[in-house]
Amino acid sequence: MTMLSTTDIAAPAEAPLEAPWHTLFERLLAELDGGAPAAAEGGTASLDPAIYGDPAHFARERERLFLRLPLCLGHIDQLAPGSVIAREVCGVPLLIARARDGAAHVLLNVCRHRGARVLPEQETVCRRQSLACPYHNWTYRLDGGLAGIPRAEAFPGIDKARLGLRALPSAVRHGLIFAVLDPEAGPIDLADHLGGLDRDLDAIGMGRHRFYRQHAVRRATNWKLIVDAFLEVYHVTRLHAGTIGPFFRDSVSAGEPVGRHLRYLVARETTDEIRTLPPGRWSPQRHATMVHLVFPNSVIVYHPDYISHLGLFPTAADETLFVHTMLTPEKPADEKAETHWARSFELMDSGVFNDEDLATCEQIQRGLKSGANDRLVLGRLEQNLKWFHAGVEEAIVREDYR
Ligand code: FES
Ligand SMILES: [Fe+2]
Repeated sequence: MTMLSTTDIAAPAEAPLEAPWHTLFERLLAELDGGAPAAAEGGTASLDPAIYGDPAHFARERERLFLRLPLCLGHIDQLAPGSVIAREVCGVPLLIARARDGAAHVLLNVCRHRGARVLPEQETVCRRQSLACPYHNWTYRLDGGLAGIPRAEAFPGIDKARLGLRALPSAVRHGLIFAVLDPEAGPIDLADHLGGLDRDLDAIGMGRHRFYRQHAVRRATNWKLIVDAFLEVYHVTRLHAGTIGPFFRDSVSAGEPVGRHLRYLVARETTDEIRTLPPGRWSPQRHATMVHLVFPNSVIVYHPDYISHLGLFPTAADETLFVHTMLTPEKPADEKAETHWARSFELMDSGVFNDEDLATCEQIQRGLKSGANDRLVLGRLEQNLKWFHAGVEEAIVREDYR
């Protein structure tokens, strides 16, 4: 592939202690000064509209990306010890549980007796001592172990130790829970998977952030149209003119691939302030908005005083479960802080993401079916989309993709 380098080009070797976003800030300043516009490098390209609607293409993405790569399922702080959430992710019924010892477990929500769903899917976390399958009441501990069988004499010789809920390979790093949706897959090495982004998440203190609120909704759009919307800023002062647009400069951003992931900074009205500050005080939240794509399906947006984690879980070529989690540096200390963050969540989740970005993605999904576009044109301000789509394309063409 020529469009995507899988080499990590993030951190220059001669400056190991520099913040990972330092050089991106320098590129933003250069662009604001009118020299060497970072986002305007590279030429135009185009995409085949079939990548968003073709069921065969989607089946390959599901098999190569969504069933093979670790997927971020959320933040551990959402789950107090002794609680669980049931959620279908990419067609796989999951229990994301935290046992009383604090350990996270990602289990298949499928009873080992005759396959019934153990906990009904709901969008909130529930406190549980144990999980009882509604069909015949086999009960399981939150670590998945089989705890009890009613009328156990009917199962002579059964080995309870082998009939716990199937666990998926999972791991927690920087507070984020990842799992591979294939119970046969090997253990996950998250430091290796995150590569250069590991340092960003450490520097930003992701692991210390607290869960504030979450909204999960199915939208009638291909998952990549949502990624696309979060990888370019060309639309920000236009589509979002009535909401967040005024906080941003028009289409000034600097990005780079980080292994198969992506990091970019978007210039805000406050970016020029860094000219009088030492680089150690350049904030990727206050002086710009940093965005990560944790390949393939997580987008993390670093707002000035909180973080939005977006998990995109496709159920079909034209339907995606969109899970927006708001993470804050601390729990709201008082009513004033609670009101402030509640308003921020409402504005961003409903006003911006759902009503503007996702509504547009759904329109595009329907529009593409009409056959109006043979190709979709990407301009020089949409460089991140070229990297992202090259990364997906690599998975589609390489049978041994891992
Ligand atoms: S299917 Fe769950 S107890 Fe029978
Ligand atoms: Fe947007």
